[in-house]
Amino acid sequence: MKLKSSFVVLSLALMALATNGALAQTVTIPIETNKNALVLEADDKHDLSTIYFGPKLADSKEYNHVSAAYGKDNDYTGQMASAYTPAGSRNLLEPAIAVTHADGNQSLDLKYVSHKVDKISDDVSLLSIVLKDPAYNFEVTLYYKSYFKDDVIEQWSTIRHGEKGNVTLNKFASADLYLKSPAFYLTQYHGDWAKEMRPEESQITHGIKTLDSKLGTRADLFQPPVFMVSLDRPATEDDGTVLYGALEWSGNYRTDLELDPENNLRIISGINNYASPYQLKPNEDFTTPPFLYTLSRNGKGEASRNLQHWARNYKLLDGKGSRLTLLNNWESTYFDFDETKLAALLKDTKKLGVDMFLLDDGWFGNKYPRNGDHSGLGDWQETKTKLPNGIASLVKGAEDNGVKFGIWIEPEMVNPKSELYEKHPDWVIKQPKRDEYYFRNQLVLDLSNPAVQDFVYGIVDNLFTKNPALAYIKWDCNAVIYNAYSAHLKNNQSQFYVDYVQGLYKVLARIRAKYPKVPMMLCSGGGGRVDYGALQYFTEFWPSDNTDPLERIFIQWEYSYFYPAISSSNHVTDWSKLPLKFRVDVASMGKLGFDIVISKLGQSDLQFVQDAVKNYNSFKSVVWQGDQYRLMNPRENSVASLAYVNDTKTTAIMFNYLVNYRYGEKSTSPIRLKGLDANKHYKVKEINLYPGTRSEINSDETYTGDFLMKVGINPKVNSDRSSVVLQLDAQ
Ligand code: DGJ
Repeated sequence: MKLKSSFVVLSLALMALATNGALAQTVTIPIETNKNALVLEADDKHDLSTIYFGPKLADSKEYNHVSAAYGKDNDYTGQMASAYTPAGSRNLLEPAIAVTHADGNQSLDLKYVSHKVDKISDDVSLLSIVLKDPAYNFEVTLYYKSYFKDDVIEQWSTIRHGEKGNVTLNKFASADLYLKSPAFYLTQYHGDWAKEMRPEESQITHGIKTLDSKLGTRADLFQPPVFMVSLDRPATEDDGTVLYGALEWSGNYRTDLELDPENNLRIISGINNYASPYQLKPNEDFTTPPFLYTLSRNGKGEASRNLQHWARNYKLLDGKGSRLTLLNNWESTYFDFDETKLAALLKDTKKLGVDMFLLDDGWFGNKYPRNGDHSGLGDWQETKTKLPNGIASLVKGAEDNGVKFGIWIEPEMVNPKSELYEKHPDWVIKQPKRDEYYFRNQLVLDLSNPAVQDFVYGIVDNLFTKNPALAYIKWDCNAVIYNAYSAHLKNNQSQFYVDYVQGLYKVLARIRAKYPKVPMMLCSGGGGRVDYGALQYFTEFWPSDNTDPLERIFIQWEYSYFYPAISSSNHVTDWSKLPLKFRVDVASMGKLGFDIVISKLGQSDLQFVQDAVKNYNSFKSVVWQGDQYRLMNPRENSVASLAYVNDTKTTAIMFNYLVNYRYGEKSTSPIRLKGLDANKHYKVKEINLYPGTRSEINSDETYTGDFLMKVGINPKVNSDRSSVVLQLDAQ
């Protein structure tokens, strides 16, 4: 990244301030990544604006000419393009920050003071810009962490003051972007339980479009915190300019997209200020969570590959590591199990050939055993009637079978029917003067309270201390927050939503300090709790309780724009009547798991799944670490097709599915591959064939990458071959 020497810029700024209070010359600050430049500029009045976000220029000196080229004719305030719009002085549009000073005054102005760049590695740089209010002892530092290769930027701010009393932060965004284009198209997501990640695209009109969440414990369910904005025209997979954005925060978020009077787009994203005016004490820092974005001029595919690559390298826990395939017992037993049943499942785990058995909900609670979802949450002792020999004997049993053992917990939650609730009613989020209101018959624990943080940390720590061989945690979160009230916070209730998430992160950081790499799944009763704030502590997430593979093709497709396949936990279940092969193939496009009754499988089904697990083990590194290409969109065709290509372009795995079951639907023509080496010669072989079936693909032929990317190959998908997996190997 080529930035002006921070020393020079800082000196200039200080010299100018020292003389007449105006900057002697504007200060231009380009943030360059591989293909793009985001350029900020402080003008002679020290107002910092975004003057450019687009393809980077060949000569970085020419960024100095950008603002003159665009002009600011109709901007009455000089603030429409503000890099961080302060409220209450001149602003006429949505602010990024709004405060009430210690003396009750509500105005804020923020002037550029200095900036510097810290080079973190060859790939990563951190720009920080200090802004100060000339009338109050109040300052904001803006941070821009840029990832050169992936064209990704994370942006956040730190707010502090030295006033004589608390300052109330009424709004405290992470980022305030400004984009120029003749038109903007927003792709947003909505959903609900079992209906996650449904996209909608619309042209952005004047005014403000808000995406937000007020669920408290999680960002997702109704409206995931990720979105895309296409510039000029709706981007396609390989064409068009598109920005992806996401707030790295697991609670209430708010993203405002405002098309301003000059037809430019302002994107202001941060923690939701809903019910959350925050009291900031003098000389304390308030740091906002990062807002993440990437800009591609080659369509959605490139943007998603950049984001997936970034996530594996910099954000997702152990993103470059391995993952455990597993057998889960949730759908095969629900709460109804004992040691005998589990002993059989451990044997089945071995028979299936996966790495681990995952014991789900229902193993705890004695006064109120967890035999259903009405009781026991919070009482994390093994139910003696079900498991007289405890988890330790199950971990040992797994070891005896040559597999690992993982366990489900939901540590942030409590059933009113539990000993925990009886002992610590003050740990429970509920309004003292109102009736309790439940989500899945449970309530949420108050993670703003350090005692509760210790308790939640202790659940995990005790499990690992007592069972050092425990290999995996599935961390569930099935309730949203109703009746938000913390007994611990007393008169500071407006900090609750922020403190909850910060409390959660404190617990997760403590867990990761002691257990840095134990794999943990981020689960939220389906409905998703999928966000990059949490994923820095988790190795994978649960995309949806809906495991019908036809539904999953659509759900996984949309998640994949933002999250890499290695983070997507996909289980084969009995949710659907589609063939077992179809279900296994869909689940193989990520981290493979099973939640079916192995002992009930017929001989051919058993043979198929055992072979499929072996195949998966042979190609999983391509799916986990390779580049993903979407080849045929299930929303536009009767067939869905996706491929994963390894970095040396020697192997690709292509997944193809029939998604339209009307009469005679099939893949009628070749599907063009992407991301191969045009000069390499590839053999194409069908894998994951069901026992007794014959492939319709000629595996003797060799094709160049050029041919496969220009003409393609027909996987011969039809109602008899509804799912086809092809492996392409360079010779
Ligand atoms: C919701 C999860 O999504 C399921 O997989 C399962 O773990 C249940 N919770 C258990 O209560």
